[in-house]
Amino acid sequence: MVTHRIALIPGDGIGREVTPAARQVLDVVGKRHGVGFAYDEFDWSCRRYAELGAMMPEDGLDRIRHHDAIFLGAVGDPSVPDHVSLWGLLIPIRRGFRQYVNLRPVKVFAGVESPVRAARAGEVDLVVVRENVEGEYSEIGGRLGHDLAVQEAVFTRAGTSRVAAFAFRLAAARRGRLTSATKSNGIVHTMPFWDEIVAETATDHPGVTWDAEHIDALCAKVVLDPARFDVVVASNLFGDILSDLAAAVAGSIGIAPAANLNPEGEFPSMFEPVHGSAPDIAGRGIANPLGAIGTAAMLLDHLGHAEAAAEVEQAIGDVLAHTRVRTPDLGGTATTETFTKAVLEALR
Ligand code: NAD
Ligand code: IPM
Ligand code: MN
Repeated sequence: MVTHRIALIPGDGIGREVTPAARQVLDVVGKRHGVGFAYDEFDWSCRRYAELGAMMPEDGLDRIRHHDAIFLGAVGDPSVPDHVSLWGLLIPIRRGFRQYVNLRPVKVFAGVESPVRAARAGEVDLVVVRENVEGEYSEIGGRLGHDLAVQEAVFTRAGTSRVAAFAFRLAAARRGRLTSATKSNGIVHTMPFWDEIVAETATDHPGVTWDAEHIDALCAKVVLDPARFDVVVASNLFGDILSDLAAAVAGSIGIAPAANLNPEGEFPSMFEPVHGSAPDIAGRGIANPLGAIGTAAMLLDHLGHAEAAAEVEQAIGDVLAHTRVRTPDLGGTATTETFTKAVLEALR
């Protein structure tokens, strides 16, 4: 039996409520496939910040560097400024471990009512490949006195071409279509540069049909005709916005899974649902666990257990298609716990 070491960071708010769901699912499906998980749990969070003045210890990255994967619930609490919690935990992990791809698949499941008429079950199956370590999320800039704030976006050739190459390879392995999210009309200086590198990368992947869409028009098209998209490659900020939008098109941001990948495997990859700590519903036990459970499936797939991953996805699909069990974000009255139980039952 193979045993994987997982660094578990429940974090804050509903992160702490959905992480146990992912863990239970991993344990149940792992058992059937002869895969064990040994968890090291870390209390890195806004709560820790309040007590000790830091989101994680100074040698935090070293403590999780040799784990096979990291699972994170979510970070953020109204008592701590977001820039403190994010630059103190989430962003250092993404950057320190060169997790330059944020993979965010979106599917419309049978049995889920999308707020968007065009989003029919079985037809929408897209993946946002989000650049995850540079771009608009740069450390350069800040508040300059009372009346001014600036931010420099940083796009490197290496950083753009590696995420573009990942996206083209993924498209080639899927339906062979790629859309690049851009704003190339020259207003944003970085985007013609992005376009140039994506076009160069495309020449290495002649089997992929691709185009570029301005981010504003692209948002409209994702709402009006989500089924037309296969792989969408986007910069850090554009990809962030697109992934919440696409998740909502699929019914709720509570069901969207994600993986922060270090494709070269030099460092552990980090698995965390798209959603945040949701302070507005935290503590009530009603958070949708499906995003975290789908994220567990991505972790399984990443660690080489594709069959186990497919079983988890199947169980999610079965619960949505064949039961009425749902958390309030999907129009139901179930709790996180009962929704999780339903998935575990479907898995068995
Ligand atoms: P959010 O994703 O936490 O919440 C947005 C809305 O979606 C809220 O109304 C929330 O109730 C709902 N929602 C989110 N997940 C849900 C789920 N699983 N089930 C049901 N409803 C769900 O985004 P926000 O409100 O912009 O941010 C809140 C905090 O989370 C902030 O501190 C932010 O910085 C942080 N955040 C962290 C991460 C992360 O750790 N990866 C991601 C996004 C936001
Ligand atoms: C996400 C989140 C983060 C991001 C925030 C909390 C920094 O929104 O993971 O999508 O923008 O990357
Ligand atoms: Mn986001």
